[in-house]
Amino acid sequence: MKGSCRLQRLASLASLAVLAFAIAACSEQYPNTTFDPHSEFGRDIDFLWDRMLLLGTIVFVLVESALLFVVFKYRRRTTDVRPPQTHGNAVLEVIWTLIPAFILLFIAVPTVRIIFKTQAKVAAGALEVEVIGHQWWWEFRYPQYGITTANEIYIPTGRTVNFKLTSHDVIHSFWVPQLGGKRDAITNRTNYIWFTPDSAMEPAVWNGFCTEYCGDSHANMRFRVFTVRPNDFASWVAQQQKPAAFGAAAGATPRTGAPGTATAPGGGEALTAGTGAAAGRSVAMPRPAGTTMPGIDTAAASAPIATMPVSNVAPGYTFPRNQAAFDYARPQTPTPPGLTFTKGLTGNAARGQQIYSSAACIGCHSIAGNPASVGIVGPNLTHFGSRSTIGAGTFPNTPAYLALWIKNTPRMKPGSLMPTLGKNQVSPQTRKPVTTGGLDDQQIADIVAYLTVLK
Ligand code: CUA
Repeated sequence: MKGSCRLQRLASLASLAVLAFAIAACSEQYPNTTFDPHSEFGRDIDFLWDRMLLLGTIVFVLVESALLFVVFKYRRRTTDVRPPQTHGNAVLEVIWTLIPAFILLFIAVPTVRIIFKTQAKVAAGALEVEVIGHQWWWEFRYPQYGITTANEIYIPTGRTVNFKLTSHDVIHSFWVPQLGGKRDAITNRTNYIWFTPDSAMEPAVWNGFCTEYCGDSHANMRFRVFTVRPNDFASWVAQQQKPAAFGAAAGATPRTGAPGTATAPGGGEALTAGTGAAAGRSVAMPRPAGTTMPGIDTAAASAPIATMPVSNVAPGYTFPRNQAAFDYARPQTPTPPGLTFTKGLTGNAARGQQIYSSAACIGCHSIAGNPASVGIVGPNLTHFGSRSTIGAGTFPNTPAYLALWIKNTPRMKPGSLMPTLGKNQVSPQTRKPVTTGGLDDQQIADIVAYLTVLK
């Protein structure tokens, strides 16, 4: 009697635990869950998971029940009576060989079918996206549209996207939990993965990750996927195909003379980056109207830039940042302790363009429309202002975070190839403060203003 009471209590506790686990596992409120797929690829993997979980659970329950039954029924009841000892039972052995074989069939057939389906060549008419993994960011190219971007992909709902995966350095792995993956990006081999975002779903943003350990900032190698309506995608494409919105006509002249110096466009005024010469000096470029920008994130970054110029160029479609769906995509990375920025600075985009174009930035970054900026080591910044995150999805793309990023990138993202640029900032690589060539906060604010208007 006492024993059965305890058994009942154990059983009810166990079923409660199973129920709690099931609720937790099945909840679809988690942004990075694979249990809420939104593409045929995701659903296929989800189906296999469900099938295996179901069969595995049935096998577990049957086997454990049989085990408990035998343990209790044939246990040694008294010390002097030994239970009968048996060895070998041909019938039993045939049965428990056949049952697993039968179960395996139910697992193997759909598994093999889905392996062949997901490895098959993509159907004609797919959107091609080239994915190139870098330590530690993602380069995305749309060869059909001549677009190069970084860390954020826009794809239309209802159209199959064929991702062509390679790597610039070490092995990375491409994964968007609710859409598809994981598949490796390797240097000497091209991998493909394709899926179709559900045509019926509302525009959404998905978190993407690198899922192959690739060095210091593996955990900071993230990206965003925006699944948008086909007409919004077309609008986004049209905008991305244009050169940079700001200062494209004026353009910065290619570097002449000593490193670090450039001729300012229009004015013919020599500008040396890193000496503070540009700060506060009027330049011969049309100055965009300074406008107070509301909504600068003051919570995480210790010192926001108070005012910023705005571009008079209408941006193409970008995913609305104020949507609830967007919250899942907002990075939560804390900024490094002690890294601050002067409060209340106003950046000037025209000045920023000159400083950017005469500093080391152009050696690594490209901006279409800025002929001085043709570097290919770092992310393409042509439409930087239209992106929602910086540092491969690590921080929100707001002036406050961007200023800290430029000031001391390797502190914001360990191992980053981008050096420490802020004047008197200690570089984690050299462990020495940056002196000559370092940018002061006003110069950084100007570069921030320039990059921000590149919509
Ligand atoms: Cu790239 Cu991990």
